[in-house]
Amino acid sequence: MNFTQIPLGTTNIKIPPLGIGAWAWGDRMFWGYGRGYGDADIREAFAYGMQAGINFFDTAEVYGLGQSEKMIGRLLQADGRPAVLATKFFPFPFRLTKGSLQRALHGSLRRLQVETIDLYQIHQPFALIPDKTMMQALADAVCAGKIRAAGVSNYNVERTRQCAGFLKAAGLPLASNQISFSLLNRDPEKTGLLALCRELGVSVIAYSPLGMGMLSGRYTPESPPRDFRGNRYPKEYLSRILPLLGLMREIAQAHGGRSTVQVALNWVIGKGAIPIPGVKNKRQAEDVISTLEWRLTGEEMAQLDAASDAVGRR
Ligand SMILES: NC(=O)c1ccc[n+]([C@@H]2O[C@H](COP(=O)([O-])OP(=O)(O)OC[C@H]3O[C@@H](n4cnc5c(N)ncnc54)[C@H](OP(=O)(O)O)[C@@H]3O)[C@@H](O)[C@H]2O)c1
Repeated sequence: MNFTQIPLGTTNIKIPPLGIGAWAWGDRMFWGYGRGYGDADIREAFAYGMQAGINFFDTAEVYGLGQSEKMIGRLLQADGRPAVLATKFFPFPFRLTKGSLQRALHGSLRRLQVETIDLYQIHQPFALIPDKTMMQALADAVCAGKIRAAGVSNYNVERTRQCAGFLKAAGLPLASNQISFSLLNRDPEKTGLLALCRELGVSVIAYSPLGMGMLSGRYTPESPPRDFRGNRYPKEYLSRILPLLGLMREIAQAHGGRSTVQVALNWVIGKGAIPIPGVKNKRQAEDVISTLEWRLTGEEMAQLDAASDAVGRR
């Protein structure tokens, strides 16, 4: 695959312009791992990513209750090629001290079978521990050589700015903010979060860039998703996104029979963010990675913006 690697924030870590999300890897609770997809599918998807140079994987200690990290650890050991691993610390309410980050990090390192994690992210803002304390804990982990870069996830404008400031005081950049961003959720553009991250040199990692699969066009009001996504995207909402999906199909066709998935991901890339689509098998990995073979025009980006605005809020 022909693409140029990009820096993660202002760090010296280089990543492809698109990563792979591993929430569904080993996760039975939400994604029904083992029903419809399983070990062999994930192994093939992982191998396809690695051979294409898409070696940036996003996981979290909570995904599949640790199974996602374990699976990546095993796959990476067997593969032997270098990868860039991102995982996350979850702010459980019983984690009340700075030391809890060190202990959680130790668990992730063990499951991933690595000495250092490339990007360690706070999964969501903490109510109980001040951001300054959490950022100091991340800075300590960098100093100890346990992580290479510090990131946050689901942080708003104010807290992103503050966290970047706390890390700067410790001599480190805030590498990234991982947020929900897609044609079905443009809040980060509207709140100024995207612009702030650009201004600060913080990479925006876009999660759920396919609207949890709704932008694949596979789900319709007649055939809604049968798992946890059914509540999140009810039939009425699936009806409302039909015109957007229609436009995405037209654009996909105009580029030589592409998929709406590739349109969705190229839109995110066009906005300057790094999408991390979740994939469950090789076919999905091939499709998402082919996104990097082409680009949307400025006019198509504007048409997609307008169609997305017309959908309104979920
Ligand atoms: N930081 C956070 O709070 C947070 C929250 C959510 C996610 N994330 C991260 O972001 C990653 C991606 O988000 P996500 O999994 O929520 O949503 P997503 O990437 O928008 O959608 C993933 C789903 O889309 C479908 N899909 C993927 N490729 C496809 C293709 N080529 N054709 C048709 N369908 C395709 C698959 O589901 P079906 O085949 O079942 O339709 C897949 O599970 C996660 O894995 C995780 O790493 C982070």
